[in-house]
Amino acid sequence: MSQNSAKEKWLARLTETLGDGSFVKLTLSMYRGGDTALKNVMVRPVELQDGPRLSFVYRYARRDVTKNFERGEAVELLNDLVGPQFMRAHLFSTQWLSEIEFREGRPARLTEGKAVHAEPPSKSHDKERIRSIIAEKSPWLQALDVTLAGGKIARGMEAKFRQINKFVELLTSLLPETAADAALSIVDMGCGKGYLTFAAYDSLQRAGKRCNVRGIEARPELVELCNRIARESHFDHLHFEPGDIADMALDHVDVLIALHACDTATDDAIAKGIAAGAKLILVSPCCHKELRPQLVPPPPLAAALRHGIVLERHAEFVTDALRAALLEWAGYETKVFEFIATEHTGKNLMIAATKRNDGARREIHAEQVRELAHLYGIRNQRLAGQLGFNLATEEQSA
Ligand SMILES: C[S@@+](CC[C@H](N)C(=O)[O-])C[C@H]1O[C@@H](n2cnc3c(N)ncnc32)[C@H](O)[C@@H]1O
Repeated sequence: MSQNSAKEKWLARLTETLGDGSFVKLTLSMYRGGDTALKNVMVRPVELQDGPRLSFVYRYARRDVTKNFERGEAVELLNDLVGPQFMRAHLFSTQWLSEIEFREGRPARLTEGKAVHAEPPSKSHDKERIRSIIAEKSPWLQALDVTLAGGKIARGMEAKFRQINKFVELLTSLLPETAADAALSIVDMGCGKGYLTFAAYDSLQRAGKRCNVRGIEARPELVELCNRIARESHFDHLHFEPGDIADMALDHVDVLIALHACDTATDDAIAKGIAAGAKLILVSPCCHKELRPQLVPPPPLAAALRHGIVLERHAEFVTDALRAALLEWAGYETKVFEFIATEHTGKNLMIAATKRNDGARREIHAEQVRELAHLYGIRNQRLAGQLGFNLATEEQSA
């Protein structure tokens, strides 16, 4: 196929999908123009006060620039950009995926594949528009073995599917405000097989909210699997990296998630989120081992806590209460609650911390942390250590 006929067919596909309402998005990559900082361009439909427009987000190394165009202008602009400036373009409709690639010294190549989006994105910025994950419309769920062909939930995965949707609902209700066109930066620490990472990305994207989502996981085989599924799903701003939470460098982060990261990995994740200025920190702790050996029961509780299981549960309570108090001290409004019914999993405690805009009551919170630690004889706790908070009261350290 010659350069022109491949491009003409691609432009005809573009006009067709814009005309019949099946357009989802368009991405331009492999930039060959003169602006070295420009990386790629993403185009999606938006509904503005003046009517429907196509929103072009120009992604530069350090910033994004958004420009909105009417349909006719947008098609003309794309005609100028695709080929001369961007060597590759992916056009996503709800019916198909069309890709054109321009190659040095060879004819342009047009390929078509199966649709990866079952419905057009919401054109609104409202977070209320973020919807649940629908099994039949989320092929990544099948790749992660949560569903079977046709969207039926796989046997034994019903609770996982409920957990995924509950999580999306919770994330949506707590999502921090960002400028309408700013991309939300989310990091999921100890993301495992990425169920919740994919769910966060997919639900935000379908709601028309731009986001960059990063999963961090110690097990390289899971990272490889998740990156493959993200590529196949054309989730261009969802990436997974191998590594230990404690060693990860984070720049700016809006939302930090760590669900069921083992033991003190939860503390490391919280500390990273605070240091990166996260507006929302969502953690669901698991296997609390650190404090139990240190815990000295207050005398009135000594008899009750002689039972191993009671002591264990109490150590969990003290650990999470300390974490919540330390988050308050660090400037967060903190809520602790059960996030799904206990019949689905025992690990259902959620700590949700939202950044406050003031540093008020810092001393009062410091005092609350120290009193709690003192009551149980706790001198060292990972999060306190990471935040440089001295748990010992004057009386203890004397
Ligand atoms: C129980 S799974 C939970 C996965 C996922 N967050 C979820 O809720 O579906 C815990 C994951 O955290 C990872 N993990 C634990 N400690 C970690 C650390 N320090 N750094 C990176 N990953 C860690 C484990 O390898 C495991 O895959």
